[in-house]
Amino acid sequence: MKDHLAALTRNTMSLVGSALMLISAILFVSLMLIELLGAEGNPYLGIITYLILPAGGLLGFILVVWGIRRERRRAPEPVFPVIDLNLDATRKRLMMLILVVTVGAVVLTAAMSQGVHVMESTSFCGETCHSVMSPEYIAYQRSPHARVACVECHVGSGTDWFVRSKLSGAWQLVSITFNLYDRPIPTPVHHLRPSEGTCEQCHWPEKFYGVRSKMITSFSDDEANTEVKTILLLKVGGNDFAGSQGIHWHMDPDVEIRYRSDEKRRTMYEVELTTSDGPVKRFVKQTVKEENPEPMDWRVMDCVDCHNRPTHVYYTAEEAVDLALGRDFIAKDLPYVRREGLRAVRAGYASHDEARQGISTAINDFYRSEYPALAASRAEDIEEAGHVLGGLYASNVFPSMKIEWDTYPDFSGHYNSLGCNRCHAGDHATEDGDVIDSDCSLCHTIVAWDEASPEILELIPK
Ligand code: HEC
Ligand code: HEC
Ligand code: HEC
Ligand code: HEC
Ligand code: HEC
Repeated sequence: MKDHLAALTRNTMSLVGSALMLISAILFVSLMLIELLGAEGNPYLGIITYLILPAGGLLGFILVVWGIRRERRRAPEPVFPVIDLNLDATRKRLMMLILVVTVGAVVLTAAMSQGVHVMESTSFCGETCHSVMSPEYIAYQRSPHARVACVECHVGSGTDWFVRSKLSGAWQLVSITFNLYDRPIPTPVHHLRPSEGTCEQCHWPEKFYGVRSKMITSFSDDEANTEVKTILLLKVGGNDFAGSQGIHWHMDPDVEIRYRSDEKRRTMYEVELTTSDGPVKRFVKQTVKEENPEPMDWRVMDCVDCHNRPTHVYYTAEEAVDLALGRDFIAKDLPYVRREGLRAVRAGYASHDEARQGISTAINDFYRSEYPALAASRAEDIEEAGHVLGGLYASNVFPSMKIEWDTYPDFSGHYNSLGCNRCHAGDHATEDGDVIDSDCSLCHTIVAWDEASPEILELIPK
């Protein structure tokens, strides 16, 4: 024992090792205390406390052992001054050393908890790996969750999930450094945490929403870009005193729906429904076109199976152009501006710069050749239309990441993707012939459908 201690302090490597072990231990204890005092739930604090510091301690230990072994092989001659604690001066110096180490540890702890804040921030996640994450970041900034940190949905709190997500995060860093990542980044995210650890930390799954009205404004491809409206009463429902009903019936704690699908979760081969009363129902897709489909493992349905785009909101080309027309960003009295705008933004471009250039040219050329008088009198509006359309392209399509207009479909309806119809298309039946409902009135009442002036709007005072 004495021998070991002596060897420990006699060579630099072991000394550095012991210092590393000591600092790691002090920091470990202080960070644990911080976490106990309320910073609990912070994923990056956890990474430092439970991954980096133990690794530091281990490295220290290895250095100590290595140093001792190396020392043993050498002739044992003293390299350091002898420390004699009987001397007043030595004791004073020792006290100073302890003081410095303690202050240093406190400062380091503070610095680290600050560092944690930085790492947790959305700009760290969204901007650090700029070109890779920038599509997700841009699509996130225009969503209802623009102020929810990436880690709230992608990591959540608790040790096991941050270790998992950090292991995959470490791989991401490697893949970005060596340019090995997929373009586009594949979705669904198969290791995404089940939503009770993420969405349900803020949203209460049984909340009763009742019926929600929704008005969708769109435009037509005619010369006048005729504006039409669709008005739906969506039966979102939820958990009422009488039990769950409506669309959020899927989220009732007594209802479990699981399915086996392809990797992209677009074709549901089998759907199994378990309720607290009644037998388990297994619905099988009747028209399976693929030969030998090899479905993934069973997945229990949660929020993300419908709300797969709660925050990375990519518009379809029509949605983007209609939104811009609806808000008068594009002058909607320019003849055929919707049709031509869609044509221009849908053409293929190699980069955002090329797209802005190409779209602007296409729009200007169209009016110059088809409406020469207008091209002169409305030059400013036409220029602006080209400019806005270029912006729509650049915030939804990312050639460098191979993200096209329809790369990331939204499953929360059935118009822009299969969405609900992955199960609700009348194609899934049990052996007894029970079919998953596809009645148009199951999920909504259609008050108006692509009408220029829906009657119901006349009831609302202007
Ligand atoms: C409100 C929750 C939420 C927040 C906040 C959030 N994400 Fe996501 N993210 C998701 C969901 C849900 C998916 C898609 C999951 C699926 O389809 O399986 C996803 C998918 C992704 C993907 C895969 C590509 C894609 O678009 O499908 C990346 C990359 C990503 N997110 C990065 C980020 C970054 C960076 C941030 C912060 C700027 C962030 N996320 C913030 C919920 C969130
Ligand atoms: C940190 C808290 C938080 C988390 C985590 C969170 N949300 Fe939200 N979510 C909100 C808030 C706040 C709003 C309301 C935003 C508003 O109205 O501007 C909201 C709004 C929504 C909406 C309504 C969107 C709309 O268009 O008005 C949906 C749907 C939704 N969240 C789904 C999800 C899903 C799915 C997840 C998990 C992947 C999730 N949320 C995670 C806080 C959160
Ligand atoms: C079966 C598909 C489905 C599932 C599963 C689902 N939702 Fe929804 N949810 C919808 C639809 C459809 C709407 C209405 C969409 C709209 O308003 O555009 C909606 C609306 C919402 C809204 C907005 C309500 C409002 O009008 O203010 C929130 C918030 C929300 N869902 C959160 C969640 C959360 C959290 C979960 C998981 C616990 C969840 N949803 C699970 C389909 C689903
Ligand atoms: C993975 C398959 C699946 C998906 C995707 C899915 N559902 Fe369902 N849904 C079911 C099953 C299974 C039932 C129960 C059918 C039965 O009992 O006959 C059901 C039932 C319903 C019901 C009736 C609830 C009640 O009160 O009994 C509504 C409403 C509904 N779904 C709406 C939606 C909407 C809206 C979407 C898309 C946003 C959607 N579903 C997506 C599987 C799915
Ligand atoms: C399983 C539930 C479900 C069924 C069945 C269903 N719908 Fe829908 N429908 C939805 C949801 C959810 C939306 C999306 C609302 C939104 O945009 O948030 C929607 C949107 C729509 C829209 C507006 C689309 C747009 O963006 O302009 C129309 C029109 C529509 N449905 C018609 C129908 C018709 C017709 C049927 C019967 C053939 C039908 N739906 C059956 C759930 C359903």
